[in-house]
Formats: sequence, structure tokens, C-alpha cells
Amino acid sequence: MADKPFLTDIKTLRERARKHIEQGAVTEGYSADRETVIKVLNEALATEIVCVLRYRRHYFMASGIHAEGVAAEFLQHSNDEQGHADQIAQRIVQLGGAPNFSPEGLLTRSHAEYVEGETLSDMIKEDLVAERIAIDSYREMIDYVSQNDPTTRQMLIGILATEEEHAEDLSSLLKKLGK
Ligand SMILES: [Fe+2]
Ligand SMILES: [Fe+2]
Repeated sequence: MADKPFLTDIKTLRERARKHIEQGAVTEGYSADRETVIKVLNEALATEIVCVLRYRRHYFMASGIHAEGVAAEFLQHSNDEQGHADQIAQRIVQLGGAPNFSPEGLLTRSHAEYVEGETLSDMIKEDLVAERIAIDSYREMIDYVSQNDPTTRQMLIGILATEEEHAEDLSSLLKKLGK
């Protein structure tokens, strides 16, 4: 270990970069299991799409005295989840994969569920459950990619932070409603 230099020498680095140029951002130094990372990212993509749809439904169905502020929150979250889906799809392409947007099997690939919910508080509770699922699965993904794919890791950390904010928003909405 002691004689292994911290950085690859410039000559080797340059030579390696010229090889397999068709692989774009994926270089020889990429040490993660690319296929598995792409598969896991496609599951995250499915989760985000399901969350976009569920929040969208809740946005349009929210009604009652407290509905206005809550509906605005649902819409904001739906848009955030769409942003996550786009980031993930972009990363899958960078890794040489194909983002799976197929409606077929979407719910099976997704970690979170699609629950419509009857009342405003049912909707908020279901969204909170979905966020908590997302939080745990993003945390696991971050551990999985570890140091082998810092770009994917950084993206996932950013998404995780937003899901934690979402969960916090929902739990304070529930408190405001006295549920
Ligand atoms: Fe998300
Ligand atoms: Fe979220």
C-alpha cells in the first residue's frame, strides 16, 4: 500500500482517458458496479414518478377549510419530485444506461406506494409514509455507492435532504390540522 501513489501519474491518466472514449463520462477509474447502480437508479426513478403522480392527485383533490395551504404544498412537492426524476434520468444516461419511464410495472419498481386517500389528513399521512420510505431507501443507496461513484452519491445526498424537508413539512401540516 505504501508504494502506491495517491494520484495516478499524468501519463497513465491521459492514456486511459483516450481509451474507450465512446463511454463518455464512464472512465476506467469508475469503480462501482455500473449495471447495479443503473438498476438501483431506475428504481429510484420509478419511486419519484409515483410520488409525482400521487402528489399531483392530492393537489387536485385537496378540499376543505385548510386545503389551500396544503394543496400548495402538494404541488410544490410534486414539482420537486419531478426535478428528482429528471436528475436521476440524466445520471442514468451519463452512466451509459437508459432511464425506464415505462408505465408498465411502474408500481412494482417503485419503493413508495400510490395511495389516493379520502380526506386531507389521509393524503398527508400517506405522503409522509412515502417520504419516510424514500428517506430510508436513499440512505441505503448512498451507503451502497459509497466512495465508488461520488457523483451519484452527491446527487443522492441532495435528493435525500429534500425528502427529509418534505417529511418535515408534512408532519408540521398534520400537527396544524391537529391529527
Ligand atoms: Fe423525490
Ligand atoms: Fe419527497
